[in-house]
Amino acid sequence: MTNVLKVKVIVGSTRQGRFSDKPAAWIAGLAGKRADIDVEILDLKDYAMPFYDGAMPPSLIKGGEYPDPQVKRWAQKIGEADAFIVVTPEYNRGPSAVLKNALDSVSQEWNNKPVAFVAHGSALGVRAIEQLRMNAIELRMAPVRDIVALPGSWTFPEGGTKAGAFAEHDATGNTMLDTLVWWGNALKTARASK
Ligand SMILES: Cc1cc2nc3c(=O)[nH]c(=O)nc-3n(C[C@H](O)[C@H](O)[C@H](O)COP(=O)(O)O)c2cc1C
Repeated sequence: MTNVLKVKVIVGSTRQGRFSDKPAAWIAGLAGKRADIDVEILDLKDYAMPFYDGAMPPSLIKGGEYPDPQVKRWAQKIGEADAFIVVTPEYNRGPSAVLKNALDSVSQEWNNKPVAFVAHGSALGVRAIEQLRMNAIELRMAPVRDIVALPGSWTFPEGGTKAGAFAEHDATGNTMLDTLVWWGNALKTARASK
């Protein structure tokens, strides 16, 4: 029987008229075609978490007992995942504040799981990925080598909403998914043996 990994695709922008949700839908579509992935999109618009101001560092909070109900919901979703794909815009050479806040707000739920990145922007979003890799390591995650780096929204047919708008990136996306699944299985086995 195929080992099925729970992969969460995180939409890293909540901006009005954002582009991030288009590449998120595309990569989730590619993942959804595979028998070895059970994919779900997590849209930060649906998790109205406060800017982190907790008295207790999230790394010390056990069992998902976060005081804020939205953070608690977020922690539940992150906790059930085996692997992540973060779709990130590049804002001023880094990720969006809302995405960094979502990373900071919970902790143990990220631990010992792989993360892959799909970035976009006029500089292909790679500088946001470089910062997110460092953040991920601190959260005890395994950022994988393979990424998808997309140009700005204006380069895609109908702003990325047209069917097949991302087709030329399918091969890169599938390579990234192969790597994520490899790490996902390795770390799932390792977590189960702890
Ligand atoms: C506040 C802000 C800062 C930006 N800074 C950069 C940047 O440093 N590098 C870049 O390539 N694009 C930059 N951009 C362009 C964004 O990457 C582009 O608008 C992208 O579509 C934003 O993602 P979103 O539409 O999903 O929010 C910036 C956009 C905004 C709104």
